[in-house]
Amino acid sequence: MLVSGGGTNLQSLLDALGDSPVARVTRVVASRPDAGALERARRAGVPAAVLADPADARELLAALGDARLAVLAGYVKRVPPAVVARFRWRLINIHPALLPAFGGPGMYGDRVHRAVLASGAAVSGATVHYVDEEYDRGPIVAQWPVPVHPGDTLETLAARVLEVEHRLLPLVVLELARRGAPEEPVRLFAAGSTFVTGDDVEIRFAQGS
Ligand code: GRF
Repeated sequence: MLVSGGGTNLQSLLDALGDSPVARVTRVVASRPDAGALERARRAGVPAAVLADPADARELLAALGDARLAVLAGYVKRVPPAVVARFRWRLINIHPALLPAFGGPGMYGDRVHRAVLASGAAVSGATVHYVDEEYDRGPIVAQWPVPVHPGDTLETLAARVLEVEHRLLPLVVLELARRGAPEEPVRLFAAGSTFVTGDDVEIRFAQGS
């Protein structure tokens, strides 16, 4: 798991995966030493490392080791192309809007929600997508819409989206882990698909929903 910030998404994975035989967080890699996520990793007993130079592909590859899936959550640094290539279709990011809208260079954190509010959009959401060579442009794995309410502030919208991120990311990680290493991008929760959670609850995504 790659982090730069407070690590609430890391926490959602730690809490949701627990001792799951399907997937677990094996290591946390931070782009900065003051990332709050490091403390969450320590509390959970998960090994953590801080990158001396996030642009150094060799350092990052060494930190990721033999991880089957690399998850970016609140990670703000560019992933070097050599790492993208090595982790093709095994490197995902969570973004706090419905990509391809409100993404791209410089669109992270509160800037995303500010842009959504300024646009007057009625819907925002959370997107999990593959990381490729372009910022926020890799194939989408899954999306979850979130309404924008009249009178929303930066804080109220960010909180509503973050809550959904915390539900979406564990679902996606579990499902990708179950499927193993794919040859091509996987699209989850498309209309008409079904999804079985770790508790054997089946979620159906109706056509046209
Ligand atoms: C989340 O909105 C995530 O989508 C974004 O950073 C925010 C906070 O992440 N990329 P976290 O609390 O550090 O997981």
